[in-house]
Amino acid sequence: MPTIRVTYVVPESLEDEVVATLWARGTTGVQVLDGGGDGAVRLEAWFEGEAPSGPVGGVEPSGVEEVPDADWMAPYRALAKPFPVGQRLLLDPRDPDDAGTDPSQVSESGRTTLRIPARAAFGTGSHESTRLALELLEATDVRDARVLDVGTGTGVLAFAALLSGAREVVAFDVDPAAPLHARTNAELNRAPLSGRRPLLFAGTLAALGDGAGRSDLAFDLALVNVIPEEIASDLSRLLDLLAPGSRAIFSGILAEHGPRVLAGLAERGLRPVAERAAAEWVAFLMERRG
Ligand SMILES: C[S@@+](CC[C@H](N)C(=O)[O-])C[C@H]1O[C@@H](n2cnc3c(N)ncnc32)[C@H](O)[C@@H]1O
Repeated sequence: MPTIRVTYVVPESLEDEVVATLWARGTTGVQVLDGGGDGAVRLEAWFEGEAPSGPVGGVEPSGVEEVPDADWMAPYRALAKPFPVGQRLLLDPRDPDDAGTDPSQVSESGRTTLRIPARAAFGTGSHESTRLALELLEATDVRDARVLDVGTGTGVLAFAALLSGAREVVAFDVDPAAPLHARTNAELNRAPLSGRRPLLFAGTLAALGDGAGRSDLAFDLALVNVIPEEIASDLSRLLDLLAPGSRAIFSGILAEHGPRVLAGLAERGLRPVAERAAAEWVAFLMERRG
């Protein structure tokens, strides 16, 4: 599948909006470049296979080009170092061959290492939205819970839920490559996960059927690090799959959209329990009223 690079010259005031729209339109990565000091920034966005045609966030592309296939993250992996997240995890984005052979994957500081080698389309767990979701997960009692990981990507949230004592994790992604990638990562983390792994599939929530009134399908916790626009059409179905009193972590929300997203979730019977923010991102731990 060809990789396509699209360039946009965007007024600084529209940068966040256009970047969020690019993620919603399926970019696999966005780089913000200095626009030359004239109040504009240059954005380079990568797409696999097909790029959006026409304007994004009201801005027309200034360039579209196909770039030869390459492992863009290889130089990053070569230089990357493990980094702590929350109180209990260390995420290791290096190549598995460089990540050492410690079978327990428990660091001297007592943190459990999750090996999530950086790959272009799936990130490393270093993105704020992933960090915020992991921090809220750490603040939630997951023991014996049945967990749903919506948009699993690398599988990192699913693995963290299993480490926290979840009974079962069902994880899926609309990107057909993601569950394959998450399965490889589950194998890399076989030791800390004690051989347990999420139940992975490619597809949408519809694959889980209609949860309304079906307690046998109900989950105790949903992990949703997905841009609100991308999950909006599945939200009713998601809430039908949550048992009364269950919880959901919503991340991937630009801070400026936080109040609107929170109000929308409240209208649907969810109450806020905790909130975390970093840079321009915010995440909410919500509870479904009984
Ligand atoms: C920001 S990434 C999060 C990946 C990972 N959960 C994490 O926290 O690092 C969002 C993921 O959601 C997937 N996605 C987007 N819309 C979705 C939907 N409606 N249903 C399932 N997956 C979706 C994307 O393909 C992408 O892998």
